[in-house]
Amino acid sequence: MKVTVVGAGAVGASCAEYIAIKDFASEVVILDIKEGYAEGKAMDLMQTASLNGFDTKIIGTTNDYSKTAGSDIAIITSGIPRKPGMTREELIGINAGIVKTVSSNLIEHSPNVTLIVVSNPMDTMTYLVHKTTGLPKHKIIGMGGALDSARFKYRLAEALDAPISDIDGMVIGGHSDTGMVPLSSQATRNSIGVSEFIAEDRLQQVVEDTKVGGATLTKLLGTSAWYAPGAAVSSMVQAIACDQKKMFPCSTLLEGEYDLNDICIGVPVILGKDGIEKIVDIPLSEAEKAKMQESAVSVSKTNGLLEV
Ligand code: LAC
Repeated sequence: MKVTVVGAGAVGASCAEYIAIKDFASEVVILDIKEGYAEGKAMDLMQTASLNGFDTKIIGTTNDYSKTAGSDIAIITSGIPRKPGMTREELIGINAGIVKTVSSNLIEHSPNVTLIVVSNPMDTMTYLVHKTTGLPKHKIIGMGGALDSARFKYRLAEALDAPISDIDGMVIGGHSDTGMVPLSSQATRNSIGVSEFIAEDRLQQVVEDTKVGGATLTKLLGTSAWYAPGAAVSSMVQAIACDQKKMFPCSTLLEGEYDLNDICIGVPVILGKDGIEKIVDIPLSEAEKAKMQESAVSVSKTNGLLEV
């Protein structure tokens, strides 16, 4: 299993690190346009191999896509991250051009690749990859919901004063401060609804904190987060590489599911060796349905800014 990570910034390096540490891939290629940067990250990571106990071979390259040839999975993290006060949508102008070029270069060298899109605004970048590459839809996966769900579980565990392993919950919808739909009515602690443990206003606070999870970190760090995005990507890559058939909310092209069409937005999917093997169309409450539709309107509006 060969995995390419495009972008050796904080998110890309974190993806490469978690994938290597989990030791399921034979090779990870990190590619960046900044001279020597990916090579440096790869060498530094390789020097952790004997300490962290992995055999994954990590190599870095400055923009040489021939080194990525034959990749089974590629992750696109390139582009600019947001700064404090910026929305993910404001990145579209620069990132759309980058994502288009990167995806086309990747496919030229790895025609059977499965692409995981991380660059923001992620749902729109995933849609752009659909519109411009001709890859089958099950091989184009946007990473947002897996991260947002991890942030939701963190906030729930904090509110319930419970270990995170007791908590289950999912966030669907757009990967944006206003578009996320944390499914609070379906979140549980060991199969018991979380509203048995916390008051409605506290649960609402959890929902609001989850939606601005990325913005909160951007404010604290001065740039967007990397550990949880890297961990979310590596879990998705592992599900595909090891054919785990695991369920994650991911951004995928909808064709009627959730009453939506011609849009990429976060919904639960099954990830296995073929990428997205199934879209799971779960029943939503009337309120959740309305929020999902609202989120879709906003993602479509951003899609409208694309020049494709
Ligand atoms: C975040 C970026 C990855 O939410 O969108 O941290």
